Amino acid sequence: KAKASPTAADKIQQLQSYADEPAQLLTTNQGLQIPDNHNSLKAGLRGPTLLEDFILREKITHFDHERIPERVVHARGAAAHGHFQVYKALSEYTTAQFLNDTEARTPVFVRFSTVAGSRGSADTARDVRGFAVKFYTQEGNYDLVGNNMPVFFIQDAIKFPDLIHAVKPEPHNEIPQAASAHDTFWDFASLMPETTHMLMWAMSDRALPRSFRMMEGFGVHTFRMINGRGESHFVKFHWKPKLGMHGLAWDEAQKIAGKDADFHRRDLWDAIEKGNFPEWELGLQIMSEDKAASLGFDVLDATKLIPEEMVPVVPVGKLVLDRNPDNYFAETEQVAFHPGHLVPGIDFTSDPLLQGRLFSYTDTQLSRLGGPNFHEIPINRGICPVHNFQRDGMHRQTIGRGQVSYEPNSLAAGAEFRVDGGLQGFHSQPDNTVEPPKVRRRSPSFDDHFSQATLFWNSMTPAEKDHIVAAFRFELSKVATVAVRQRMVNNLAHVDARLAKRVAATLGIEPPDPKAAMGQAGFRNVRFELPIEESAA
Ligand code: HEM
Repeated sequence: KAKASPTAADKIQQLQSYADEPAQLLTTNQGLQIPDNHNSLKAGLRGPTLLEDFILREKITHFDHERIPERVVHARGAAAHGHFQVYKALSEYTTAQFLNDTEARTPVFVRFSTVAGSRGSADTARDVRGFAVKFYTQEGNYDLVGNNMPVFFIQDAIKFPDLIHAVKPEPHNEIPQAASAHDTFWDFASLMPETTHMLMWAMSDRALPRSFRMMEGFGVHTFRMINGRGESHFVKFHWKPKLGMHGLAWDEAQKIAGKDADFHRRDLWDAIEKGNFPEWELGLQIMSEDKAASLGFDVLDATKLIPEEMVPVVPVGKLVLDRNPDNYFAETEQVAFHPGHLVPGIDFTSDPLLQGRLFSYTDTQLSRLGGPNFHEIPINRGICPVHNFQRDGMHRQTIGRGQVSYEPNSLAAGAEFRVDGGLQGFHSQPDNTVEPPKVRRRSPSFDDHFSQATLFWNSMTPAEKDHIVAAFRFELSKVATVAVRQRMVNNLAHVDARLAKRVAATLGIEPPDPKAAMGQAGFRNVRFELPIEESAA
């Protein structure tokens, strides 16, 4: 028989600390009391330790297996619990229940992270920050897995392993571990002009947040919302921090990295412990597909943002973080976000970066969290019932009942395992942007790599421009290969001639040559464009 749906309060209870339990006697994992936790079993007072000491063996074996692989990216993070509440029903745009029920306080778990560093790296490195939100809704878990910058380095997921290999420490000596100040990253970036817009953000003060509480967040990709009439709108998600946005100076960031590598996680933890609960407003840029077609750039290209002057950001709800995790490993480390965790009323677009992410997250979590049952780890469990005929596998926790594990069937007693062919549940909506034939090629509407980088540069104050120039100079001064410095500065000349000249001045290279950048071998449109017939499947 189907159980009643657990409520949000049940979720909080479910995740509540076991640490509050009264003092207990130490036991083994089988529940056997341990009389002595200081001495192993030996053959005589000064003799060797006996293999039969299963208490020692269990303790050391468990310790030996404490580590799981760190995330391949975003390994270093800090997280907190909280809730989300929508201001006004958004039924005009979406059927998602948590965006329509103004009474509902949807529990959330939010993890902030750096991208490049390992799990033990410093918080204040110059880097993008992850901003991942898991909403435990009555219709299933919805994950908004975003960053603190609204655009991304690349346009197609097939370049993600290259981007990350270029930014991570070099394979032969694992140097450098900090920041992006090295030849491989700038080599890749300078050969990929589509990175230019994101580089402007990454060299700005946005890459040095003062606190996780003082960062914006972005869903980055264009998503779709579907209303009760089946109508689709494009949407961009924004998080706006109540405390405003604040950055560190580069000099401060470097000193803090040495003195307190935990600067950001400590700040988040302490604020919540003191009752200074951080808050963000969820903002939406919603537009019809016709409006999107008139913007002058492609909304499926993740290197582009939609200027707020073109489509305003409308505040629709509030996120509050009010409880620290009880256990870092069980919650912050084992949480599994996925941009494909959707609820009815929210859907993907064909953004080729997003499409690749839909495969990548489950795939990596299968190895990071040890098999296909990581949805049963408490932090990943939803608040709505989960019914299906999947069974077995590594680390299965659920004890299934009965003879039947297939559908259709006539032998199971209850009706709860039926498939509802009606309007309930998740339906993939037709996507009008899909056009045949199959092509392994970039759309020409993704070709402009510089206009929005120029837009960003022009929006900066003189002091912010100085910071960007200083950041490029610092980073490129660490690049040993002169040709890489030169190529990067040549690319910057397409953003702004004075920016490129100022960066070049201290690098001992030729004045920037924008023509060289357009014609160079790595420029995608020169090297990789194939005629459609050749690549058609
Ligand atoms: C992890 C954001 C692009 C693969 C993450 C996390 C965030 C994030 C916030 C950390 C999640 C956490 O806290 O556990 C983004 C954004 C992207 C992007 C905003 C672009 C707009 C990609 C792409 C791929 C990818 C293109 C692969 C094709 C991964 C993987 C992880 C990850 C494998 C580790 C997940 C885990 O181990 O649980 N990403 N990412 N990401 N991302 Fe992305």
